[in-house]
Amino acid sequence: MIVLDEKSGIITLHTKNTTYQMKAGSHGVLLHTYYGPRIGDGDLSYLIRCTDRGFSPNPSEAGLDRAFSLDTLPQEYSTCGVGDFRLPSLELEPEDGSRLSDLRYKGVERRPGKYNLPGLPAFFGGEEWETLTVTLEDAATQVEVELLYGVLEEEDLITRAAWIVNRGSRTVRLRQAASLCLDFSGPMELITFDGCHAMERQMSRAPLRPGIQSAESVRGTSSHHHNPFVILCEEGAGEEQGLCYGAALVYSGSFQAAAERTHLENNRLTMGIHPYHFRYALGPGESFVTPEAAMVCSPSGFGEMSRHFHRAIREHLLRDPWKGERHPVLINNWEATEFHFDAEKLVDIAREAAALGIEMFVMDDGWFGKRDTDYSGLGDWQVNQKKLPGGLEALVPRINELGMSFGIWVEPEMVSEDSDLYRAHPDWALGVPGRSRTRGRSQLVLDFSRREVRDHIYGELKKVLDSAKIRYIKWDMNRSLTDVWSAALPPERQGEVYHRYVLGLYEMLERLHTDYPDVLIEGCSGGGGRFDAGMLYYTPQIWCSDNTDAIDRLRIQYGTSFCYPVSTMGAHVSAVPNGLTGRSVPMETRGVVAMSGTFGYEMDLGKCTAEEKETVREQTKRFKGWWQLIQEGDYYRLTDPFGGGAFTAWEHVSGDRREALVSIVMETARATPPFSVLRLRGLDAGALYQVNGSEELWRGDVLMNAGWPLPLPTGDYQAMQLYLCAKRPSSC
Ligand code: DGJ
Repeated sequence: MIVLDEKSGIITLHTKNTTYQMKAGSHGVLLHTYYGPRIGDGDLSYLIRCTDRGFSPNPSEAGLDRAFSLDTLPQEYSTCGVGDFRLPSLELEPEDGSRLSDLRYKGVERRPGKYNLPGLPAFFGGEEWETLTVTLEDAATQVEVELLYGVLEEEDLITRAAWIVNRGSRTVRLRQAASLCLDFSGPMELITFDGCHAMERQMSRAPLRPGIQSAESVRGTSSHHHNPFVILCEEGAGEEQGLCYGAALVYSGSFQAAAERTHLENNRLTMGIHPYHFRYALGPGESFVTPEAAMVCSPSGFGEMSRHFHRAIREHLLRDPWKGERHPVLINNWEATEFHFDAEKLVDIAREAAALGIEMFVMDDGWFGKRDTDYSGLGDWQVNQKKLPGGLEALVPRINELGMSFGIWVEPEMVSEDSDLYRAHPDWALGVPGRSRTRGRSQLVLDFSRREVRDHIYGELKKVLDSAKIRYIKWDMNRSLTDVWSAALPPERQGEVYHRYVLGLYEMLERLHTDYPDVLIEGCSGGGGRFDAGMLYYTPQIWCSDNTDAIDRLRIQYGTSFCYPVSTMGAHVSAVPNGLTGRSVPMETRGVVAMSGTFGYEMDLGKCTAEEKETVREQTKRFKGWWQLIQEGDYYRLTDPFGGGAFTAWEHVSGDRREALVSIVMETARATPPFSVLRLRGLDAGALYQVNGSEELWRGDVLMNAGWPLPLPTGDYQAMQLYLCAKRPSSC
C-alpha cells in the first residue's frame, strides 16, 4: 500500500511486514526516513538529526543554516559534487565538462499495477502490485529523474529503477546512474556471494568498517566472482532471527553493489550498472532507464527473506510457459564426451537414459563447424556433417523415437578466430583498432551492441532451430569481456558499449522467447558466471556451476539459494571420481544434491553398473513424484555448510504444510561421532507426520523443537531424505 501525504511531503510504502518511507524535505531534498518492520505512516523524519558538522557544506538555499547539509542527510537518491561526499547515485556530465548532480523534488504519483522497463528484464504482474513515481530534477541541466518503485505487498518486495530524461536543449552524459540507494543507521554487516569459475557464490560476511566495501564486476557479465545480490543485516542476524535487507540487481552486465560506512557511522548501499567505462549520451528529449533492483526487508532473518525472493521470482520474474511447470529431467553429453562424439555415441547415451526414465537429451558443444577443440568453430552455426551425417534432421527423430525430446547447446555471443564468420567479418568482434585482441578460452566476443551482428547470428540459429524438433537451448557464454570498443559507435559513445551489449543480449533472448515460446532456455556462462535475476527473466533455469562435485555443490547451491529459487538452479549428477575435484561421492548422494535443483544427469550411463542404473531409475522416479514440493515449496536452510558441521541439511515444505522433504548429506565420517539431532522448520506444529511411510507418527512441534535423531554415519558423504506427510488432522 502506498500512502501519500502531499501536505507534509511524506511518502510511505507498506508491504505486509515492512514499511519504507521518504519525505520531500526542506529545499526540495528527498530524504529517506525509514525502512524496516511495519509501522504506521506517521512522519518519521524525527529520526533525522541536523547538526553542523565540520567539512559538511551547505547548499546556497540553506542560507546561514550550517546544520543543513547533503553530506549528513539520508538521501533517497544521492547526488554528487554539491555537498554529499558519500556514494553517489547520479553523476551528470553536461557539455561544460562539469561532473555534478543536484536533484530536487518535483512531484509524486501512484498507480495500480507494475511499471515496465523498455528493453530490460523486470518483475511483472497485475493488481497485486502498485507503482510509485517520484520525480526529481536537476534544474541546471533540466534532467529529470523519475524514481520508480514497485510494491508487491504480499512478498515484502519493493522494486526500484530510475528513468532519466533529458528535458533540456543540450546533450548531457550520464557517468553513473544507480538503480538503488539506501541509507541506514546503526552498525551493520555485509554479506556477499563471491567465488570463481567452478566455485561460485561462496558466502562471505563481515561487519561494515569505515569506508566503502563492494561486490562488483567489470567483466561485462555479472560474473562467477561476485553476485549482484547482497545482504545488509544487523549483528547476530541468522536464518530465523534478526533484521536483514536483501538487494538483487535484475541485470547481467558489469555491476557495482557498494556499501559505505560513513563519517556519521551510518551506512549507504548503492547498486547499479558499474561506473567503469560508463558514459551514456542523452540528447535533448532522450531518456535512459536503469536496470531494476529488488529489495526485501525481513525482520525475522535470512530464511524469510529468501522465501520472499523465491516466491516473487517464481511468480513475477519467470515467464510462461515454463513458470510453475516441471522442467524435463535431462541428460547432457558434455562431461561424458566433451567434443569427441558422433551420432551413434549420442544415440547410445540417449538410449541408456531413456530406459531409465530420463526425458530429454541435450547435445552440448562440438556439433557445429570445425569444433573438435575449443580453439575453433564458434560463429559457424552449421551442423558438422562428419560427426552428424544428415544433420539434425537425421539425429533428432532417432532421439524422439526413444521417447525423448531434444535440446541443443549454443554460444551465440562468441566467435573463434579460426571460423568462417571471423574470416568474413573480423570487425564484428569487440576490439580496439591498433591493439591486439585479448583472448579468453581462445575466443573473441562478438559485438552484440550491433544490430547487424545480432541479426546474422539470430538468422543462423533460426535455421538450426527450424531444422528439427528442438525443445531446449543451452545458451552458454565462456569468457569475460575485454577490449570493449565497437566499430559502430563514434569515440565519444564508446562508454555505452558495455551496456548496449547487455541490451543486445536481452533483445536476442526476447526474440527467441517470442519466436519459440515453448522452447526452454537454460542460461550458462562457464557454469554460473551469469547467474542473476536479469537472465532468469529469459532463461528460467541457469547452469549453477561447472563444478558437479556433490560436496562442493552443497556450498554453491547454498549460496545461490539466498536469492534464487531451487527451480532455477541447473544441477546434474555426474560420474565419479569427479573431473574437477577427484572426489568420489555415492550415486545416491549425487542424486539428492542434484534433486535440489532442476535435476538431470551428465555422464555416460552405459558405463554404470546395474545397481547404479537402478539408482538412476529410482531417483528419476522419486524426483518426478516430488518435483512440485521441491520446486514450488518453501525452502529452509537447516544448517550452514560453511559452519564446519558434520552434515548439511535443507528442507522443502509444501504451501499447506502437509508435506515436507528433508535432505541430509553427511560430510567426511569420523570415529566415535557425536549423536546429532536435526530440528526441522516450517511444519504445522499440531499436525502428526508420518516419516518415510513408517507407522510411527511425529508431532510437528516435536520435530521442530526436539528434533529428528540422525543415524550415525557409516562412511563418507552419505545422504538420506525424509519425506514427511501429515496424517492428522487430515490425510495427504
Ligand atoms: C561451459 C559449460 O558450463 C559446460 O557445461 C559446457 O557446456 C562447456 N562450456 C562446453 O564448451
